[in-house]
Amino acid sequence: MERVFRAPGHTGPEGDIGRWEGVVGDEEWAAEICRLKERRNAVILAHNYELPEIQDIADHTGDSLALSRIAAETDADVIVFCGVHFMAETAKILSPDKTVLIPDEDAGCSLADSLTADELAEWKSEHPDAVVVSYINTTAAVKGLTDVCCTSSNAVDVVAGLPADREILFGPDQFLGAHVRRQTGRDNIHVWAGECHVHAGISGPELARRAEENPDADLFIHPECGCANSAIYLAGEGVIDPERVHMLSTGEMLTSAKTAGEAGRGTVLVATEVGMLHQLRGVAPEVDFAPVNERASCPYMKMITPAALLRCLALGTDEVDVEVDVADKARRAVERMISVGTPGGGE
Ligand code: 13P
Ligand code: SF4
Repeated sequence: MERVFRAPGHTGPEGDIGRWEGVVGDEEWAAEICRLKERRNAVILAHNYELPEIQDIADHTGDSLALSRIAAETDADVIVFCGVHFMAETAKILSPDKTVLIPDEDAGCSLADSLTADELAEWKSEHPDAVVVSYINTTAAVKGLTDVCCTSSNAVDVVAGLPADREILFGPDQFLGAHVRRQTGRDNIHVWAGECHVHAGISGPELARRAEENPDADLFIHPECGCANSAIYLAGEGVIDPERVHMLSTGEMLTSAKTAGEAGRGTVLVATEVGMLHQLRGVAPEVDFAPVNERASCPYMKMITPAALLRCLALGTDEVDVEVDVADKARRAVERMISVGTPGGGE
């Protein structure tokens, strides 16, 4: 096993990213992962954007909200978080007495990087009476300055539950913020101009072209996508039938996929990270799920390779820690998040 740099197509916004490679995710690997997992009394959680073999070996695969709730309730001694760093940090905030491991601590997130704690502190000082709502895709330090966190599946419910006359600072995702503003009809939401480079790259013109080529297809769109505003605009203009447009978190996509399968739908165009297709095809194999942008692959999620997971369970590394005072400040906002909205999708 070795740390390989310049893996083909494996670049982030700041250039090439290394990852652990040299192990095939075959049956022998799966048996060894299960043996090591039992030995550590570990639970393996995987986000819907992980590589297929990682999703398949996990005890639970799901969206950010579902995985946070499982992390808060598990009785395992060790949580192995196959996702990106802020997700493992959130698990540690919710379960401070557990050991939390991530198979590669360098698995970051361009969206979480787009709002620092210093920037949020300054923004708050300009709006001292505002309620701060932060997306789960933030660092623990940003969560510590937040009143309530949210995920894509409960962002609208979280904001709708706040007093109508209170100003809101919503960050860091501008596209999710615009979606929340539209859905709640509130005009007192200030939105940070951050974005995820993967979802922002799924553009309006690309969606319009794919929708035109597939006039009968349903559209599953993650609200972080650059095309989210265009989809609503095109539906409003009558270019796309509004009935075809579904704005969904990754977990909600799975629920809707089952419905699409039962209704005998032919094609569904999917606007989100391409790892999602593995879960969608699993729950509704009769539907043709096609990516709006097949290059929308998150290089950070793909750092959790079979080699990285094996190393993680064998050596007990990389351990994720959050400073106690930061975790204590962040916990209230994260606990409020997991108490709001639908169960979160996955499995
Ligand atoms: P959800 O799983 O909450 O939809 O989040 C998507 C995402 O981008 C995670 O990084
Ligand atoms: Fe972050 Fe985007 Fe990757 Fe999700 S897909 S982890 S938001 S960079």
